[in-house]
Amino acid sequence: MKKKFKPSNSKVWDELAAHRQSLNDFNLTQQFTLHKDRFDSMHSSAAGLIFDYSKNLVTKETLELLVKAVESIGLKEKVEDLFRGAKVNRTEDRPALHTALRDFTGTAPFSNQINSVIDSMTTLVERIQSRVWRGATGKRITDIVNIGIGGSHLGPMMVTDALKAYNQGKLQCHFVSNLDSNDINFILKGLEPESTLFVISSKSFSTLETLQNAATAKVWLENTIGIGRDLSGNFLAVTASPDKACEFGISPENVLPMWDWVGGRYSVWSAIGITAAMSIGMENFNRLRSGAAEMDKHFREAPFESNLPVILAMLDVWYINYWGAQSHAVLPYHHQLRYLPEFLQQLEMESNGKSASLSNSLLTYPTASVLWGTVETNGQHSFHQLLHQGTHLVPVDFIVALRPEKKGDPHHRYLFANCLAQANALMTGKSVEMIHQDLISQGITDEIADEMAIHRQMTGNRPSNTLLFDQLSPEVLGALMALYEHKVYVQSIVWNINAFDQWGVEHGKVISNQVYDRLSDQDTEIQFDPSTEGLISIYKKLK
Ligand code: F6P
Repeated sequence: MKKKFKPSNSKVWDELAAHRQSLNDFNLTQQFTLHKDRFDSMHSSAAGLIFDYSKNLVTKETLELLVKAVESIGLKEKVEDLFRGAKVNRTEDRPALHTALRDFTGTAPFSNQINSVIDSMTTLVERIQSRVWRGATGKRITDIVNIGIGGSHLGPMMVTDALKAYNQGKLQCHFVSNLDSNDINFILKGLEPESTLFVISSKSFSTLETLQNAATAKVWLENTIGIGRDLSGNFLAVTASPDKACEFGISPENVLPMWDWVGGRYSVWSAIGITAAMSIGMENFNRLRSGAAEMDKHFREAPFESNLPVILAMLDVWYINYWGAQSHAVLPYHHQLRYLPEFLQQLEMESNGKSASLSNSLLTYPTASVLWGTVETNGQHSFHQLLHQGTHLVPVDFIVALRPEKKGDPHHRYLFANCLAQANALMTGKSVEMIHQDLISQGITDEIADEMAIHRQMTGNRPSNTLLFDQLSPEVLGALMALYEHKVYVQSIVWNINAFDQWGVEHGKVISNQVYDRLSDQDTEIQFDPSTEGLISIYKKLK
């Protein structure tokens, strides 16, 4: 660590730094021998989730200091700021009210507006599922294509896929996000235009990928149904810019609103979740919202010592800012959570991948680490080697259900066993001595055993969290998503950054327009760096 991590004047940050030094020889496995109550005192539960954080490089003192640290920066008040609609998104001068979108008490800000949209969603889902809604030529809708990207894609896609078991069996949902036409063309190939409903999801209704894909969808419909025909039965939009959606040609009554006070990556709880709602039904969509609401309540009310989002956040801060961790793996041992790492990548990295503080200066300490992962057990046969024997510290979140979706499923116990085994192996490792002994007992000579043992040794002491739940219900999924949302918020408070803007992404969009103009010979004024210029000239020669 180049600079001291000291996000506020409190001396607790120095205490944490000194405490970190005292843990240089920390042995995680030994801690369980020394403290018989370690597991009992280091796991907690809320909203259907059980959170075991006992396999971390921490002692009780570490956890006390981390709690002291969040107290010292007034986290309690900052949490209230979020819920009451204070302008926590300072650089855009707005609140971030995703929690209001799943509030059932009627006390959250904008609750009338939110409830009216929920009512519209309910009516719409009902009309589409009961086949009352018809496409332009009077055909029933059989397929929904969600066109969106980032938060207008990842959340709806993950929820739809994760809750496949709750699909009402009436509609097939597809997701198009990529600018590459291979994405949309492949999906359209299998569809019948007259019975396809496109949901154009875009908070801004100005995102290149979404507009380009929406235009391709429109041409595809026009080519079959006929140019100039009323296509309103085949298009819905969700946006905070209804004028732009209407300009595109979507009927005003088919435009569901959202608001600037919902961040894109936090928007699945709004009408942006309509595709998911059409798949699982509104009742299950509300169950998802209620699971998130339960986690919200826990986050708001539980003492920090047993507050899941706070502990999850602070353990990550501990590794990033005191141990130099640069990445973090999320490994769901549940096939239906296969899109969770991707969803969390946007949530964590777009929110907290920042280097300017809210005091308007450049930070001298690291913020969000790189989040990555995949569905397990696939990763075990791919990158787990690096987790076990690589040179980087990579804290892991293991996520697994206690029970399979189908009773008696012969796979599930193996899956569960593998999850626990990986966490155990990362922590306990295997010493050179043990391996040496094993080799000798297999009849290998002392000399060869000496050579081989070092390659097989695993240092262990590698930290992980385990998140358990009974089965993947809509409530559990909602709680899991809200858990990570709040983790991100806590970290942004600690790092004194704005979790709700994304100016870096905006810059890339501007340059891509300029490059596009140059490729199209439209604006010869702008000059880029020599490498970009060289690549542009290769492209132009081929044109
Ligand atoms: O490119 C970043 C981003 O602005 C995300 O924050 C957002 O989720 C995504 O683009 C899509 O934006 P929109 O919903 O406005 O199309």
